[in-house]
Amino acid sequence: MRVAVTGASGGIGRWVVPELRGAEHEVLALDNRPSDVVEGVTMLDVADPRATVAALRGVEAVVHLAAVPGTRTPDWDAFDPNVVTTYHVLEAVRAHGIPRAVLASSIWAYGYNPPAEDRLPPRIPLVEDDLVPTVNGYGLSKRLLEQMGREYVGATGCQVVCMRYPWVVHPARYPGGPLGDPSSLPCRAELWSYVDVRDVALACRLAVERDGLGFVALNIGAADTRSALPSEDLARRFAPRAEVTRALAGCEALYSIERARTLLGYEPRHSWRSR
Ligand SMILES: NC(=O)c1ccc[n+]([C@@H]2O[C@H](COP(=O)([O-])OP(=O)(O)OC[C@H]3O[C@@H](n4cnc5c(N)ncnc54)[C@H](O)[C@@H]3O)[C@@H](O)[C@H]2O)c1
Repeated sequence: MRVAVTGASGGIGRWVVPELRGAEHEVLALDNRPSDVVEGVTMLDVADPRATVAALRGVEAVVHLAAVPGTRTPDWDAFDPNVVTTYHVLEAVRAHGIPRAVLASSIWAYGYNPPAEDRLPPRIPLVEDDLVPTVNGYGLSKRLLEQMGREYVGATGCQVVCMRYPWVVHPARYPGGPLGDPSSLPCRAELWSYVDVRDVALACRLAVERDGLGFVALNIGAADTRSALPSEDLARRFAPRAEVTRALAGCEALYSIERARTLLGYEPRHSWRSR
């Protein structure tokens, strides 16, 4: 398949491009900055609508990773470009009848970030429908990305898979032990979730290769938590107000990846325990 990847020079893109090329897909790597890691990056500013529509002519799938990260509220720097660039990519999908798109969403779409004691996840494991209101610019940009994806699926019949990533960890950056203090507010707000960037790349490839999904938002995470403590202990000690909806096994992820397992056949291969 001929697959376009926006944000190909970025931290995730540099793993997605080789994952796709390794599966014999022909990849059009796009970014507004060159890369010393990814071969053959074509310069494109996805903030330019006409250039984006022209660049995506002839592709059979697009993985849209280009975005501006953000944490502040308000956040004009992240909200404005992220909403606009997603619109441009989806317009290219419509204009050329591209059958499949993968859009990078985030755990921030849930509304539990930035973390706050009075806004922690109410249920464990966290499933895709457990959204709460958010006014954070980056989180809103991801929620609108998902909503825009839904609109284009309804209007054009294309497939749009939105992937909610938690903290994406790179193999060289594992500290050699648990990832952070399990009692910290950020860990509790994100339910000790993380994902290895190689598993993000795997999920992107699986979504590109799948048909018939329509619109779907998926948690894409590791199979385990950031912590060495059993998940039952994490929930009891550090999330006592959350409703635990089923028995928890070992150190299983509390950020549920069951929907991705079922729909994509996604099974994460990496963990801080084995790196
Ligand atoms: N890294 C994480 O922990 C994490 C977590 C959740 C979601 N995400 C999402 O995953 C996606 C990829 O994240 P990343 O970590 O690779 O980010 P990154 O900042 O490392 O890479 C983003 C890439 O997009 C490019 N880009 C930005 N604006 C562009 C534009 N207008 N035109 C063309 N290229 C542009 C940048 O040059 C960069 O190479 C983003 O959508 C991000 O919001 C990342």
